[in-house]
Amino acid sequence: MMSSCWGAALGAAVSVPVLLLVAAPYIRRYVAGGQCKSTAKLEGKVVIITGANTGIGKETARDLARRGARVIVACRDIAKAEAAASEIRAETGNQQVIVKKLDLADTKSIREFAEKFLAEEKELHILINNAGVMLCPYSKTADGFEMHLGVNHLGHFLLTFLLLERLKQSAPARIVNVSSLAHHGGRIRFHDLHGEKSYNRGLAYCHSKLANVLFTRELARRLQGTKVTANALHPGSVHSELVRHSFVMMWLWKIFSFFLKTPWEGAQTSVYCAVAEELDSVSGQYFSDCQPAYVSPRGRDDETAKKLWSVSCELLGIQWD
Ligand SMILES: NC(=O)c1ccc[n+]([C@@H]2O[C@H](COP(=O)([O-])OP(=O)(O)OC[C@H]3O[C@@H](n4cnc5c(N)ncnc54)[C@H](OP(=O)(O)O)[C@@H]3O)[C@@H](O)[C@H]2O)c1
Repeated sequence: MMSSCWGAALGAAVSVPVLLLVAAPYIRRYVAGGQCKSTAKLEGKVVIITGANTGIGKETARDLARRGARVIVACRDIAKAEAAASEIRAETGNQQVIVKKLDLADTKSIREFAEKFLAEEKELHILINNAGVMLCPYSKTADGFEMHLGVNHLGHFLLTFLLLERLKQSAPARIVNVSSLAHHGGRIRFHDLHGEKSYNRGLAYCHSKLANVLFTRELARRLQGTKVTANALHPGSVHSELVRHSFVMMWLWKIFSFFLKTPWEGAQTSVYCAVAEELDSVSGQYFSDCQPAYVSPRGRDDETAKKLWSVSCELLGIQWD
C-alpha cells in the first residue's frame, strides 16, 4: 500500500513538470495574444506617444519608428526618455525619434508641450495617449486633480484638445487611447471625482480607465466626417512598470511574469489601432488582442460620456464644442 502511494507521488512529481514543459510554448502563445499583421509603412508621418520611455509605450515607439515614422517620445523623465530614444534610434536606424518634455500631472507642462510641438511640427498623423499611472497612494496633480483621473484622463483630454486642429489638418489621422479591461470595474463618481470623500487606489485606476473609454466614444462621435478617428484599447496584462506603486503587485508580476504579456506583445493592439489599413474609417471602438472587444455597459453610456466631457472642460477651463 505504502509503496503504491510512493509510486503515485513519484509519478506525479515527474509527470507534472514534464506536462508543464510540453505545454509551456502553447501557454506562452495563448498569453501573447493577438499580433498586428499590418506591414504599413509610416514614412513622412508624425506620431506622438505619451509615456514612451518604458513598457508598452516604448515598444509602440520602437515599432512605429521601424515603420519610418517621425516619433515624438513625450515623457516627464527626460533622461529615461533619452535613453529609450537612443536605443530605438540605434536599433531601427531611424534618427527621427525625438524626446519632448511632457508631464501629464501638470496642465502647464501639457500646454508648453503642445505650444512647442505646434510651433515646430507642421503635421500630426497619430496621437497615442498611452501614459498611465496605477495604484498610486492618494495624491493630486499640480492642478489639484486626483492623480489617476488627472494623468490618465484629464491630462490626455487636454493634450488631445490642444492638438486636435493639427490632427484635422493632417487627416487622415488617428487618436489611440490606451485604456484597460479595468474599465469594467470603474464608474464616474461625479459627486466625488477627486476621491476626497472616499478613495481606493485600485478603483481610482478603474474609474480613470472608464473615463478613457467614454472620452473615446464621445470624441469619435464629435469627429464624424473629419477623417480623424479615435479608438480605445486594452493592451492585455503586461509585464511593465505599471505596478511600481504596489510592493505586492510588483512581486506577483515578477512571479507570474510567464503568464503576462511582454511589453512588445502588449504594444501590438496599440500598433494595430495606429496603422491597420482595415481601421481607416473605424472610430469609437474598443479593441483587445487586435480585434474588437466587449465594452462594459457603463462604457457605452452616452449620457455619462457627454456629462464627463463637459465636466472635464470645466475642470480644465477650456471650451470644446
Ligand atoms: N501593464 C498592464 O498590464 C496594463 C494593462 C491595461 C492597461 N495598461 C495601460 O497601458 C498604458 C501603459 O502602461 P505600461 O504598462 O506600459 O506602464 P509603465 O511601464 O508604468 O509606463 C507608463 C508610462 O507612463 C508614464 N507616465 C506616468 N505618469 C506620467 C505623467 N504624469 N506624465 C507623463 N508620463 C507619465 C511613465 O513615465 P515614467 O517612467 O517617467 O514614470 C511611463 O512612461 C497605461 O495607460 C496603462 O494604464 C497597462
